[in-house]
Amino acid sequence: MDKFLYGIDFGTTNSALAIYNEESREIAHTIIIPSLIYFYEQRNSDGTPNFVVGEEAISAYLNEGMKGRFIKSVKQVLSRSSFTETRIQNKRYTAADLVAIILKELKGRADSLIGENCQKAIIGRPVFFDDDNVQKDTLAQTRLSKAAELAGFNEVRFQFEPIGAAFAYERTLSKKENVLVADLGGGTTDFTYLVLNPEKANSKNRKSDMMATGGIYIGGDSLDAAFMWERGTPYFGKHTQYEATSGKRLTVPKSLFANICSWEQMNFFNGPRIKKDIEDYYYFSGKNRKFKNLLTLIENNLGYSVFRSIENTKITLSGANMARFSYQEMDIEIDEEISLPDYEQIIAKDVNRIANYLDQFLLQHHIEPTNIDSLFLTGGTSLVGSIQKLFKERFPHVNLNSGDNFKSVATGLAYSGYLFEK
Ligand SMILES: Nc1ncnc2c1ncn2[C@@H]1O[C@H](COP(=O)(O)OP(=O)(O)OP(=O)(O)O)[C@@H](O)[C@H]1O
Ligand SMILES: [Mg+2]
Repeated sequence: MDKFLYGIDFGTTNSALAIYNEESREIAHTIIIPSLIYFYEQRNSDGTPNFVVGEEAISAYLNEGMKGRFIKSVKQVLSRSSFTETRIQNKRYTAADLVAIILKELKGRADSLIGENCQKAIIGRPVFFDDDNVQKDTLAQTRLSKAAELAGFNEVRFQFEPIGAAFAYERTLSKKENVLVADLGGGTTDFTYLVLNPEKANSKNRKSDMMATGGIYIGGDSLDAAFMWERGTPYFGKHTQYEATSGKRLTVPKSLFANICSWEQMNFFNGPRIKKDIEDYYYFSGKNRKFKNLLTLIENNLGYSVFRSIENTKITLSGANMARFSYQEMDIEIDEEISLPDYEQIIAKDVNRIANYLDQFLLQHHIEPTNIDSLFLTGGTSLVGSIQKLFKERFPHVNLNSGDNFKSVATGLAYSGYLFEK
């Protein structure tokens, strides 16, 4: 038997790895890094690719004046057949190549902690990578599998992320329970309903304990996009008018601003035609400086830094009634107060979609709330006040538990060694 195996939670926002010692049956270490890559503007002088991963990617992006390519939320392109490759520093990168960079970073850090080249991993995957579409889902898992191979793993199993979270929670229990697990991350919200029993924690077959799994493609990124749409885009020209023909005033089409609310779109929103359109709006709106802000934003790759401010506002509001939405860079100047009720209004549509999905999930799988013994919430987005309220309202008599919101999935994946048993 190998001595170690890795549980890897490759997340939209954060990626974690738990090292499991199969002899002592304990987690030896956990590592977590932001799922970010920054490619410098120039290759290394010897021609090799020049990039940094994780926390360092943020500082490199800011220090280099945001000139290179910043890769965020790469997990979201895994299921897109339209994404085949991207050129960076004159080299082609497929989705699997980009994911492999993050997995390799985690593997490298873990291998140096144990002093071995561990090639055995249980990798998490959301219940649905995208909407409930089998082809997209298969494509995503195939790419993730390829990425694992490129990163140096030759024995790989997949496990649903919320089942990973459940197994981490199981280790804290003293008796059998019917548990509803909700993992609310950066990209997706996943549910699983299962029987947890600490006495079965190391057993080989857990299939019969899994009663239902499901998920929806909404997470923290969606909340940040909603905020950008409502509160960010007005600084970049939404709601402004321009004079199309003499005397005829029109409002700039809202569709223009959808491009700066998501990461994927922002990456491709920098062509000469788009810039020409924005320059036209600038002149025909009487030189409204908001269009200059929009040009500054896209020409200087400021997207990540604006979204960081949005995320900070959200995180502050997870523990306070008021936060500032503040951003100053070049000629862009944003500084306003956001109250918690305002924020809750902005994200209400997404929270309702999660609530509706949850109701449908319970109905479809004939889960009676009275049969649920406890709830386990994990993932960064589970810290949002309206999300917690949603679960408290739906299940007023059920205990709401949480553990480490960012590491529980990886930990539980590492406890899933039974997947290797024949
Ligand atoms: N205190 C907080 N309050 C609200 N949201 C938070 C907080 N801390 C982190 N987040 C959000 O949680 C999300 C990241 O959570 P997590 O690390 O669980 O996601 P992930 O595992 O990378 O994503 P996924 O599982 O969807 O692939 C981000 O959207 C982040 O902004
Ligand atoms: Mg996650």
